Amino acid sequence: MTMDSVANSVQLPPLDNPNERAAIGAELQVVLVDLIDLSLIGKQLHWSVIGAAAHGVHLFLDELVDQWRELADVVAERAVTLGFIPDGRSSMVATGSRVEPVVVQSVADHAVVWELGRRVAAVAERVRARLVSVGGADLVTQDVLIRVVEMLEKQQWLLRVQLGEKA
Ligand SMILES: [Fe+2]
Repeated sequence: MTMDSVANSVQLPPLDNPNERAAIGAELQVVLVDLIDLSLIGKQLHWSVIGAAAHGVHLFLDELVDQWRELADVVAERAVTLGFIPDGRSSMVATGSRVEPVVVQSVADHAVVWELGRRVAAVAERVRARLVSVGGADLVTQDVLIRVVEMLEKQQWLLRVQLGEKA
């Protein structure tokens, strides 16, 4: 074993499949960008909501924004833990996000809940679809992404019930 590989093995966690390190970093990067964009869209709708339920939706959106920001931090720090520098800059979010953008205008309370619910569901579905493949390379990263899906799906439920839909 060379000094170099000893240093690397001390600094970086071993993966179930070390050849997958860059691929795992890329998986975390796309999730990071989507989570940051959700947090930005959530704030936009927090400012844009109108209607009888606007106050409640306005406050609820700040809770969701906090959760997306925390999840983004966990995802980014998992990437850097594995030696992959995450990119959370606005330019990267603008070009890399797969979340459908919102228009700058007033939005009715029920439309905010509906529009946000669709976007949260889309991100949750995309992350869920990658879980098995990520788990094949690194179970710990898979666990981080499972926590992302768990939170997003819980948010889907909390948004759904505000539309009066049954669980
Ligand atoms: Fe606010």
